[in-house]
Amino acid sequence: MKRIVILLSGRGSNMQAIVEACAAEGWPAEVAAVVSNKAEAAGLAWAAERGLATAVVDHRGHPDRAHYDAELIRVIDGFAPDLLVLAGFMRILSAGFVQHYEGRLLNVHPSLLPAFPGLHTHRRAIEQGCKLAGATVHFVTAELDHGPIVAQAAVPVLPDDDEDSLAARVLVQEHVIYPQAVRWFVEGQLELADGRVRHRGGVAQWAL
Ligand code: GAR
Repeated sequence: MKRIVILLSGRGSNMQAIVEACAAEGWPAEVAAVVSNKAEAAGLAWAAERGLATAVVDHRGHPDRAHYDAELIRVIDGFAPDLLVLAGFMRILSAGFVQHYEGRLLNVHPSLLPAFPGLHTHRRAIEQGCKLAGATVHFVTAELDHGPIVAQAAVPVLPDDDEDSLAARVLVQEHVIYPQAVRWFVEGQLELADGRVRHRGGVAQWAL
């Protein structure tokens, strides 16, 4: 059984989608813990109610990012993860942290990377007049919202969309591709070469 640790800062809907798919589909994996930088994160309460191990590593009270990330690593490694899943974890991670989990650290980002890394992705896509938006699951590298792409989903940007309506449409697809990508990882289906990720079975790594 592969051990998955999930990091979040807020609502945790992607975490829920992964926890539920893992149980319903009988993955060769278990969610070993859900860890947050915020004690009040709604996702943490949901995980605790579900009987999952939870931990809080508050980012306040640490002299700098390196100290915080070292403490985060200490707590996460206590759960012995094979895979670390960022699910709305709104912290910039140090290069040392990323290096520690290299090849076993996934993130979901609400844009079609490499377009729109960073914040306010939906507002920026609307402002740019994009006709398609979407979400990306990728392996994490030291560069923000960057790294080998595991899966992408595209959705239309409709003429009357605002940030919230577009975010909601994209989120539906995040809940499809993120559990799928995590499943591929724990099943050993992903092959990473030359900065590109291939599904060994040739399964489509996109959704429209
Ligand atoms: C998701 O839309 C995710 O793509 C985004 O935060 C939201 C978390 O929602 N992540 C980022 O912007 C990371 N750069 P959730 O807590 O309901 O899963």
